Amino acid sequence: MSEMSKKWILVRKSNIKYYEEVKLYYRNPAGNVVLYKPEGMRFDDESLKHKYVDEYYIKKEDKVRCLRAAQQGFSKNLLHNIVQNDTATVKNELINLIDETLSEPRSGGLETAPELIENIAESYSSQPDIIKNLAKISFSDYTTTIHSVNVMALTMGYCFYTGCSLERTRDFGLAALLHDLGKTEIPGDILTANRSLTDKEFEKIKKHPALGYTILKETGFDLTIAVQGALEHHEKLDGSGYPKGKTNISECGMILGIIDCYEAITNDDRPYRSAMAPLDALSLIKNDVEKGKYNRKIFEDFAYSLTDFNRTGKYKDLF
Ligand SMILES: [Fe+2]
Ligand SMILES: [Fe+2]
Repeated sequence: MSEMSKKWILVRKSNIKYYEEVKLYYRNPAGNVVLYKPEGMRFDDESLKHKYVDEYYIKKEDKVRCLRAAQQGFSKNLLHNIVQNDTATVKNELINLIDETLSEPRSGGLETAPELIENIAESYSSQPDIIKNLAKISFSDYTTTIHSVNVMALTMGYCFYTGCSLERTRDFGLAALLHDLGKTEIPGDILTANRSLTDKEFEKIKKHPALGYTILKETGFDLTIAVQGALEHHEKLDGSGYPKGKTNISECGMILGIIDCYEAITNDDRPYRSAMAPLDALSLIKNDVEKGKYNRKIFEDFAYSLTDFNRTGKYKDLF
């Protein structure tokens, strides 16, 4: 790690507007990092306009404060943006925010995540369709973060459809968001490989549930449901899953197993494989339900939660 990155973090442009209460720094022409603005001043304050700055930095120890400020700012704008029907803006900001939260998960950033999901869950009750549409907006650059945000939106849709309490919706939404956290410790070239993986590479990928479990445990926060979800989302009820091949899977593990699979196959995440239409994806997963790999009731509720609140629409022939 360079001397520079030990002390300073480069700020993401999309979050900078929320950093009013944090000191911002920039690099002067001599290459030294110096103060750009003090606490209590906006980065676009008139008095700073004369400075041309391309990259802003924060001190490493201010990271959690910054994340909290960005998450609070996002939550404050959430309802406004949703009411404006601007789902793409909401998703874009959310992805940037989550990307920053999940990068270096051991540095304290996760501390602020439950509050963020709670805010999303609260707005869900007033605007369910719009938040559900979050999962449908696709980005050409498909990453673990985008996958995680999609799984979160689908999971919260499932929770609302099945009448979960706000607390459970928050817990399952958070678990969905963090289910692949262990992938932050898998080499990026394996995760983004533009080809089928070798057996050895796949063995490495299979370590991500246990890695996620360990990271979440080590935070010391009360993340019981997210811990189960991270560890069990690749387990199957017939024992054919990983890492343990267990058949006694928590409810969260069973829900995330189905939704994770659905999200992955309906998204064009690998150039050598094309995305499947929702109904085809559901039929494929249904085959695994018949084989005893997934819970039937959860699968049916999830399928209905996608479009059909009244159980009368286009997915009725599936069951
Ligand atoms: Fe996973
Ligand atoms: Fe996943």
